[in-house]
Amino acid sequence: FTPKRLQGQHVLVTAGPTFEAIDPVRGITNHSSGKMGFAIARAAREAGAEVTLVAGPVHLATPRGVARVNVQSARQMLEAVQARVGDASVFVATAAVADWRPAEFSDQKIKKDGSGDVPALAFVENPDILATVAQSERARSGQLYCVGFAAESHDLLQHASAKRKRKGVPLLVGNIGPATFGKDDNALLLIDEHGSKELPHASKAVLARQLVEDIAQRLAARGAA
Ligand code: C5P
Repeated sequence: FTPKRLQGQHVLVTAGPTFEAIDPVRGITNHSSGKMGFAIARAAREAGAEVTLVAGPVHLATPRGVARVNVQSARQMLEAVQARVGDASVFVATAAVADWRPAEFSDQKIKKDGSGDVPALAFVENPDILATVAQSERARSGQLYCVGFAAESHDLLQHASAKRKRKGVPLLVGNIGPATFGKDDNALLLIDEHGSKELPHASKAVLARQLVEDIAQRLAARGAA
């Protein structure tokens, strides 16, 4: 028997990388398989929530019962999130959003002309989706619980704690250990205003269920579930 801990909740999840086009055939992106976000969407659905998954370009099947919206760029991801976050009660941002996008998109393929000249690419900063949502009225008033992720190469607790405060979210989840890109397992560090707790090494499916259970407890403790 699995209690439907998130019955009545609407969980919105971002997952995967974003792809920022340079021209019709090129672009820049980040490493991200989307596996953790998809596992969280699946676990939240299994816990009884209505789940919307906004996914960048990834090669993963949509979990059963989950409404999926495919996007490419950070701006499209922000737009898709803003269109759906209005009735969400939980927002989990796992996407590896590109920090910058090319300042200009060339409608035509940029041609290599044989001269040896290389194109100069200028970049502009992308919106921070999590920080934007966390600043919204519903998040600030406690109707929307925001969870961020962080992948750091060193000093995880220190950097992730700082990121939690900077992004203005109650819960920040750090990926422990070496790059987890594409892998099926991970370990997580959950950081909140009181401190941190580790979810030890396990499959992403198991970690996702543990994280969803943890979020459900936090909602219940706040009297929101
Ligand atoms: O890239 P960064 O380490 O700042 O990501 C931390 C968190 O913020 C992650 O949850 C990520 O999904 C989110 N994020 C976002 N929009 C961005 C950058 C990061 O939602 N432009």
